Amino acid sequence: MEVVASAPGKITLYGEHAVVYGKPAIVASIDKRVYVRCRLRSDKSITIRALNLQVPGIILTYNKDGEVILKTDYGRVLSAVSYIREAINLTSRYLNEFKGADLTIESNMPVGAGLGTSAAVSVATIAAYSKALGHDLDLHNIAKLAWNTEKNIQGIASPMDTSISTFGGIVYLTYDGVNFSIDPLHIDVEFNIVIGYVKRQYKTKEMVEKVKSYLQRHPDLVKPIIDLIGDLVNDAKKALIKGDLEYAGELMNINHGLLDALGVSSKELNDLVYAARAFGAYGSKLSGAGGGGSMIALTDSERVQQIITAIRILNGLPIGTEIGGDGVRYESIDKNK
Ligand code: PMV
Repeated sequence: MEVVASAPGKITLYGEHAVVYGKPAIVASIDKRVYVRCRLRSDKSITIRALNLQVPGIILTYNKDGEVILKTDYGRVLSAVSYIREAINLTSRYLNEFKGADLTIESNMPVGAGLGTSAAVSVATIAAYSKALGHDLDLHNIAKLAWNTEKNIQGIASPMDTSISTFGGIVYLTYDGVNFSIDPLHIDVEFNIVIGYVKRQYKTKEMVEKVKSYLQRHPDLVKPIIDLIGDLVNDAKKALIKGDLEYAGELMNINHGLLDALGVSSKELNDLVYAARAFGAYGSKLSGAGGGGSMIALTDSERVQQIITAIRILNGLPIGTEIGGDGVRYESIDKNK
């Protein structure tokens, strides 16, 4: 049995970091995806190859107690492997079934870009592996297992990345610290998003911990910032539904300023954010955990090229994208392999 599943990356239009503290967020899938090919094996080994996620090849062998015996020293490739391994562990525990498998992962997003690659890897791995074992997990179960994967690996994670990667679309997400719900947004007006990427020095976990430490050390200052982000997300929802791009852009700028105040921007990101505005974007902000990684600009089609050029001049990697496409999906299922 061989299954190929894919899941999209995401951008956060508004509300990252505050979402960890129970505030709403607006998030969208992008047209860059992670593909996981899963072929069952007759032994109890899991092999992982993910060349463009910096995983040259690794074999995890499980003993009869379900403990992993690592066959290779994977050094700096630990990060992507740890999500895949945890996704397999949680899925087989949930289904009460374990079989060895060869997993090949391909991504058309840069790794660690703040585009939700780790969530997409987790979601697509869970979908492919469960299907290969002959189970039909519904989307809520896939999203939950993927969220637990992220929580176990990162220590702290909101359900934002894993749910958008599972369900796709452009959604307003609410999260009360335990449960989450997603509400698709229907936006009638045409707009474009340009992503700019700069190398990221820090992991999501480190950025989330940075905000947590700010909050612990300066609760009277930082809590109102988080509350304000929550408020502006609700305003942004109304602005987008009304098709008021000028106001939606202004709210992005305010969101960026507040994220900078939380200490999660960087000079390189700020340079791209300001350049996009100078070249006519309605608004721009960092997107994702920050500390480098991605920024987004909200614009109309006439200005896309000039914003792309501005990002390139500043040594960022511009990524044009369509947003709001499919969540997790099966690309192929071959029962004869
Ligand atoms: O690094 P990313 O794009 O996966 O962003 C994580 C988003 C945060 O809000 C910072 C953390 C979270 O778990 O929601």
